Amino acid sequence: MELIDGKKVAAEVKAEIARDVEKMVTEGHKRPHLAAILVGHDGGSETYVASKVKACEECGFKSSLLRFDENITQDELLKAIADLNNDSDVDGFIVQLPLPRHIDEQRVIEAIDPGKDVDGFHPVNVGRMSIGLPCFISATPSGIMELLRRYDIDTRGKRCVVLGRSNIVGKPVASLMQQKANPGNATVTVCHSATPDIAEICREADIIIAALGHPGFVTADMVKDGAVVIDVGTTRVADPTRKSGFRLSGDVDFENVAPKCSYITPVPGGVGPMTICSLMKNTLLAASRKVY
Ligand code: GUN
Repeated sequence: MELIDGKKVAAEVKAEIARDVEKMVTEGHKRPHLAAILVGHDGGSETYVASKVKACEECGFKSSLLRFDENITQDELLKAIADLNNDSDVDGFIVQLPLPRHIDEQRVIEAIDPGKDVDGFHPVNVGRMSIGLPCFISATPSGIMELLRRYDIDTRGKRCVVLGRSNIVGKPVASLMQQKANPGNATVTVCHSATPDIAEICREADIIIAALGHPGFVTADMVKDGAVVIDVGTTRVADPTRKSGFRLSGDVDFENVAPKCSYITPVPGGVGPMTICSLMKNTLLAASRKVY
């Protein structure tokens, strides 16, 4: 069994990006600039955005954090997005989700210029991804594909089971895994809350990508010997022994599943660190004008 070290790969990718940025700057281009909009004070969102700002520093990017009170109106938020769309210094930006309930998230996503949508959430980017056109691929699916690529994991002709059909992980990763590409070229089955016999389907899988948000869902009896298991789960579960009061739990019963696998990602330290570095890759792409 080989552990897939997302922390190590993420550090390598960020170092590569930093080298590319210094080359760009030496050649007279401006530094890539990522902006982030944060509404309210959700603890998880604060942490994610702080990590994104730190990753920008590591990559040599300029970053801007625009904070708004949770009572901001939808129109005010749409105006802030329009301003970023029109700001030629900003190469890409994200609106950290979730947003307060009075704001229509889809409306907000669709207000972002697809050419600056480095989260890859805009329907134009999602659609372009699904037919294999240049686009911004959302961070988690892109991070998973990068891990498979860097560990040289053969996906061609393999049976891949994706657990979960969310718009930001399950659907796009299923789409990428079946695309005529490397990694890709897999035969993909997507399981969700209405799928009967999930355990049986998983037992047939060469590759399992678990993105349900259900701690410990994938148990050893669901995994065939030699399978590759990618755990996208990051559910916060109470843990009074930790200073934070919680720990992150994956969707896989790691202790019992790992001995059966050829490769497995841990939680934390697997897919998680890769997501932010995918966002950095998209920002560099946006700054290089290689997509739009
Ligand atoms: N909230 C949780 N994950 C993400 C993400 O990847 N992008 C944004 N914008 N918000 C998130």
